Amino acid sequence: MKTTRTPAPVLARTRGGLARGLAGLRRGGGSVALVPTMGALHKGHAALIRRAGELADSVVVTIFVNPLQFGPGEDLDRYPRTLEADLRRCAAEQVALVWAPPLEVVYPTAPRVTVSAGDLGDRLCGRARPGHFDGVLTVVAKLVHLTAPDVAVFGEKDAQQLLLIRHLVRDLDLPVHVVGVPTVREPDGLAISSRNDYLDADGRVAAPSLSRALTAGAAAAPDGAEAVRRSARAVLRAAAGVRLDYLELVDPDGLEQVRPDHVGPALLAVAAHVGGTRLIDNVAVTLPGPGRP
Ligand code: PAJ
Repeated sequence: MKTTRTPAPVLARTRGGLARGLAGLRRGGGSVALVPTMGALHKGHAALIRRAGELADSVVVTIFVNPLQFGPGEDLDRYPRTLEADLRRCAAEQVALVWAPPLEVVYPTAPRVTVSAGDLGDRLCGRARPGHFDGVLTVVAKLVHLTAPDVAVFGEKDAQQLLLIRHLVRDLDLPVHVVGVPTVREPDGLAISSRNDYLDADGRVAAPSLSRALTAGAAAAPDGAEAVRRSARAVLRAAAGVRLDYLELVDPDGLEQVRPDHVGPALLAVAAHVGGTRLIDNVAVTLPGPGRP
């Protein structure tokens, strides 16, 4: 039987190690795709890595739990750290280089200058997590500068994050191409997330009500924006153990609530606490307008 051995990715922990690894990949003119992560890699991350592999000659994965994007009382300390398993997954997905730096390598001193997400960062998740997107954009800008990739790949699961990263790249002229990947889900619809591991048995039963609500909302699109909101909300109201943070139907560019007569693309986004765990999900919806299917 023929066995295909996947070589382990190069693991770098310092800036020098990253630079040497990148120089090796760039030798001969090969292109590089970046997949930034906070580790605890799952099937969603794997989909990003696979897409990255289609887009460039080599894939670089970064694993860094970025304190700047966690608020007081959030899960920074208990965020899962599973480097050994992450490296195995990266090996299985033919990742060339993993950069897993300690805190002081990324932030030798506490940054006094950061990226502001502006008003888009205050909407949806930004209301409950002030400063979160400033922290995300600051670290993504640093990771893009440090790795200088041709392409960087992000998940649509975090739609507001993806939108803001597209703005970061456009508004600050970062020389990288941003690619989004559709949300990977469990068979029951639950969007895969590292935070799903926090759910207890009851929470795991309740959690798919988020995606069920989005599906119900999307199915009501022919009846207009209010019907979308109503249908989605009805599912969440009936779900035991789910405390809603927000459910919003917004325009996909400005993230402002769409009007009842809205026609065209919209984003239906939800955040809710299931047990002690905050989960988010979203789906793209097109409102066809009256008389159109
Ligand atoms: P993390 O939550 O580890 O996610 C890393 C990337 O995986 C993000 O682009 C996210 O949108 C994507 N992702 C997570 N779950 C997914 C799923 N079920 N389907 C598709 N893609 C999924 O997002 C972050 O880390 C951080 O904010 C980061 C961008 C790394 C900056 O610190």
